[in-house]
Amino acid sequence: MSTYAKVYADWKRCPAKFWGDAAEEIDWVKPATKVFDPHLGEYGRWFVGAECNTAYNCLDRHVAAGRGKQKALIYDSPVTKTVKSYTYAELTDEVATLGAVLQDLGIQKGDRVIVYMPMIPEAAIAMLACARIGAIHSVVFGGFAANELATRFDDCQPVAVLTASCGVETARIIPYKPLLDKAIELAAHKPKHCIIVQRSMEKASLVAGRDHDWATLTADAKKLGRKAECVTVAATDPLYILYTSGTTGAPKGVVRDNGGHMVALKWTMKNHYGIDPGEVFWAASDVGWVVGHSYIVYAPLLHGATSILYEGKPVGTPDAGAFWRVISEHKVAAMFTAPTAFRAIKRDDPNGEFIKKYDLSAFRTLFLAGERADPETIKWAEIHLKVPVLDHWWQTETGWPIAGNPVGLGTLPVKYGSPTVPMPGYDLQVLNSEGDEVRRGETGTLAIRLPLPPSCLPTLWNNDARFRSSYLSEFKGYYTTSDAGYIDQDGYVFVMARTDDVINVAGHRLSTGQMEEVVAKHKDVGECAVIGVADQLKGQIPMGFIVLNAGVNRSAKEIESEVVKLVRDEIGPVAAFKQVMTVQRLPKTRSGKILRGTMRAIADGEQWKMPATIDDPAILDEITGVMDTRGMISKERAGS
Ligand code: COA
Ligand code: AMP
Repeated sequence: MSTYAKVYADWKRCPAKFWGDAAEEIDWVKPATKVFDPHLGEYGRWFVGAECNTAYNCLDRHVAAGRGKQKALIYDSPVTKTVKSYTYAELTDEVATLGAVLQDLGIQKGDRVIVYMPMIPEAAIAMLACARIGAIHSVVFGGFAANELATRFDDCQPVAVLTASCGVETARIIPYKPLLDKAIELAAHKPKHCIIVQRSMEKASLVAGRDHDWATLTADAKKLGRKAECVTVAATDPLYILYTSGTTGAPKGVVRDNGGHMVALKWTMKNHYGIDPGEVFWAASDVGWVVGHSYIVYAPLLHGATSILYEGKPVGTPDAGAFWRVISEHKVAAMFTAPTAFRAIKRDDPNGEFIKKYDLSAFRTLFLAGERADPETIKWAEIHLKVPVLDHWWQTETGWPIAGNPVGLGTLPVKYGSPTVPMPGYDLQVLNSEGDEVRRGETGTLAIRLPLPPSCLPTLWNNDARFRSSYLSEFKGYYTTSDAGYIDQDGYVFVMARTDDVINVAGHRLSTGQMEEVVAKHKDVGECAVIGVADQLKGQIPMGFIVLNAGVNRSAKEIESEVVKLVRDEIGPVAAFKQVMTVQRLPKTRSGKILRGTMRAIADGEQWKMPATIDDPAILDEITGVMDTRGMISKERAGS
């Protein structure tokens, strides 16, 4: 029997008691004077008056408790053929050493540090070293281009950047240093220091005075026995800023605090993921995304578990058995990845032949998130892995699941297409456009009644006004998730689609609005629209439409490939923006709004109705004609 219903009811009856009890799992320098203060911040603040250090809770306290010899982090990199592990004692030493290096460069509590790293252990060490000295890290995903990095420099004004000479994408080397140099050139704010991990496959050239070699700095610090102590911070101080896509080109700097984050994440490890300290947990994501922050680095370490940092792909490194090799080699108890990874495996190994080659006896649960888990993918994984396959729903903004199937409280029956039920902390409601709660089963916007639980963003970096306008002003007293969906008679949540311009490409969150801003910069483009269309592998991919300026007589094909390159150069390869079509006109309403929804329905081969407000219906025929000729309507696109 699951205790979920009782635990959820207990939380609802007295949230302060629930979170106060959960906070006992954390070592505080000073406990909170108030578990929650509704009068502070934008909607209240958690663990007011408390003082703590997140790195201490992730590392030192486990060493003190006798876990020093247990593996804390396993780096498994099929792309470099490396497996290397760090015990809790070793990781503590590395983090304390880097912390001292940062302090010696003048970095202090509250300073911002950008981490632009491939999936190497130094990425986790960098994050934890910042946490140790009270600096605020901001990790930028390696697949973003220089311009994206520059935008973040200007927004959070980092004192230093920690990076590596390159990333390895399957067999391709991606030099990072040119991107860093370009970003520094583009940004108005220039970081004072860059610390670079020189990887053997690519040596970056260093700029004298500004760039430092990671290995030299840390070796020198070790020789001198320099180690940073844990710096005490307020529970409400920021631990990190993580930028995420919004409706416009300017990314939103999601702020995470120290205290609430630790309490919520620690609670999830046992209660949601069903993991005990000492067990191996693997989130096959990237530290550049929220999943990587929460479930590669912070939560497993807060819990005293062993975490895996995987530099590879689900397929091609070297084959569709890559995940099963890691699970069997490291005795993974639970793993977490995006459905798209499983679609890639299923495509290459439809009968699950690779699965049979490995001993998966330690493996208990597969968790999926990042995009809606389509029932076909879940069923395939259930049949072949013979373990529960559990979807759960969350956002960069929350840092932990809003809805899920809590293994530690007793797994609930799975309903395909649903991430199951709201977690304690989330009073989830479905609202209509007037802000009224709808009846069970009816679709509307999924919104969380304030206050948000611990770990959720208290605000956006340096932008309380944007926090309010993006999340709190649509429905008074609620945080809008910008996801649409419904809750059924049994209380199961169904998350169906975004209500804004955000799309989800291979589990990566991107903004079509931002892509439009980039496409519009091309000198020959008069007007444009970018929509997210269905894709068998990646869930969604962007599709662009451009109208050329009058008088342009260059080949449309040439302009289209320039536009593709522009998006890749400005946003990065992660945008997966590869399809763009030149059209004569864009379909619009009489008030001039582009009919993106109708264009998407056409591209996806869905039934669609002529919008009553359309200005000129003939344009939809023109667009359909172009998509048809280019093979861009769903069935032709299938498998792209
Ligand atoms: N640094 C540099 N480039 C990167 C990168 C990184 N860290 N990550 C991705 N890219 C590049 C890829 O090489 C690719 O470039 P290309 O257009 O030249 O081929 C492009 O960005 C798109 O990457 P991606 O969307 O990941 O596609 P893919 O074809 O390389 O791989 C999957 C497809 C499904 C295998 C892959 O997306 C995957 O494993 N997804 C798991 C999802 C995930 O981790 N989600 C995080 C939330 S849980
Ligand atoms: P991110 O902030 O990158 O984690 O993306 C969050 C968005 O991804 C959510 O708002 C949803 O649109 C989508 N998402 C994440 N997990 C799920 C899920 N399990 N089911 C449906 N959508 C999801």
